[in-house]
Amino acid sequence: MTDFTFDAPTVIRVKRDGGVLTDAAIDWVIDAYTRGQVADEQMSALLMAIFLRGMSAAEIARWTAAMVASGERFDFTDLRRPGSDGRPLALVDKHSTGGVGDKITIPLVPVVMACGGAVPQAAGRGLGHTGGTLDKLEAIPGFSAELSKSRIRQQLSEIGAAIFAAGELAPADRKIYALRDVTATTESLPLIASSVMSKKIAEGARALVLDTKVGSGAFLPDQDQARELARTMVELGEAHGLVTRALLTDMSVPLGRAVGNAVEVAESLEVLAGGGPSDVVDLTVALAAEMLDAAGLDAKDPAETLRDGTAMDCFRALVAAQGGDVGALDTDALPIGAHSDTVTAPRDGTMGDIDAMAVGLAVWRLGAGRSAPGEQVQFGAGLRIHRRPGEPVRAGESLFTLYTDTPARIGPARAELDGAWTVGDSAPPHRPLIIDRITRTV
Ligand code: URA
Repeated sequence: MTDFTFDAPTVIRVKRDGGVLTDAAIDWVIDAYTRGQVADEQMSALLMAIFLRGMSAAEIARWTAAMVASGERFDFTDLRRPGSDGRPLALVDKHSTGGVGDKITIPLVPVVMACGGAVPQAAGRGLGHTGGTLDKLEAIPGFSAELSKSRIRQQLSEIGAAIFAAGELAPADRKIYALRDVTATTESLPLIASSVMSKKIAEGARALVLDTKVGSGAFLPDQDQARELARTMVELGEAHGLVTRALLTDMSVPLGRAVGNAVEVAESLEVLAGGGPSDVVDLTVALAAEMLDAAGLDAKDPAETLRDGTAMDCFRALVAAQGGDVGALDTDALPIGAHSDTVTAPRDGTMGDIDAMAVGLAVWRLGAGRSAPGEQVQFGAGLRIHRRPGEPVRAGESLFTLYTDTPARIGPARAELDGAWTVGDSAPPHRPLIIDRITRTV
């Protein structure tokens, strides 16, 4: 039945003029948009008004709750892991606010599995200049993230993890997320907080760690704004019964040496084999320790699972459970762009900072992300960083290799990199990877 109490133009006008939306107006607009009764252009206008005017804490809380209520909320608390003496699963997850080269979920989930945690992870696709976990994992031939609820339950109890497309969880976020991606309304605290937390509240985890990014490659580069985002998300999680913490982590340079889809899977495999770039290893281990603590698990040292191969075993089990070709993890069978191009050093010296945003945009232009809703990404698109900040460089050496299936994409990608890196006489100042830790403020 049509509700004549509300209409989209009035709701948009209230926010456009800097007003506060009532609980009832928020419930109505989220529900009506999810059911197709508010049009994309109306929601786009409202999102832009929210982007420009912001939201109060009470509005963010209600908007998030309405997005959770737009779909199902999973409950896995009845599940027991075989051989666990009937103890419930330690259901714990992490979510990143989005970064460049941020493949951390790929090694992290198996580390937590190997330490006895159970991870129900509703993951996302690329958004703006940042990559998406699902686009990366789907680069493994056969891997599917379209899992039914019964399949997720089965994987959680049998192997301890499932990484899946949100599907019927928070369907309002699915629609709004796609709209934000193409209407320049991504970089908004209320919209990021509600997007992340609606999925995480609905997915069935009992504890959550938020990796809140700070720096040029983050949606909110400014440290004070990122801290505010982290606090807002922690409060939202706790209000919905999740033990929630956040780390503020540096995203001014890309994480690791690989940015893209399959190239990030390949780098994650190096980490799972006990090697890989130190920043990726350190962040994986720090987030795992935080997750285990939040879940009340007094388990083994997460770093040990990378050394002793148990995390790699868990990753193979996860890939196999989701239809992926485990054989492709052992060989060079992961896709790589058919065309490549190399950026070389103009002089001897030391590699300076590499701007994360520019690298994210370059990789997006190579075809790793989307510029229209539903577009197919190139699994082989990506970039390898041969010299990290502070490393010595010789004139003529390769600094970056770009990969794509579409040669015409190489010029625009190289243009994004122009001015985004330097070779100088000294190393750039050291920046801590983990900037702060944020917990509930009561
Ligand atoms: N991750 C999400 O799920 N949503 C955002 O808005 C940003 C990162």
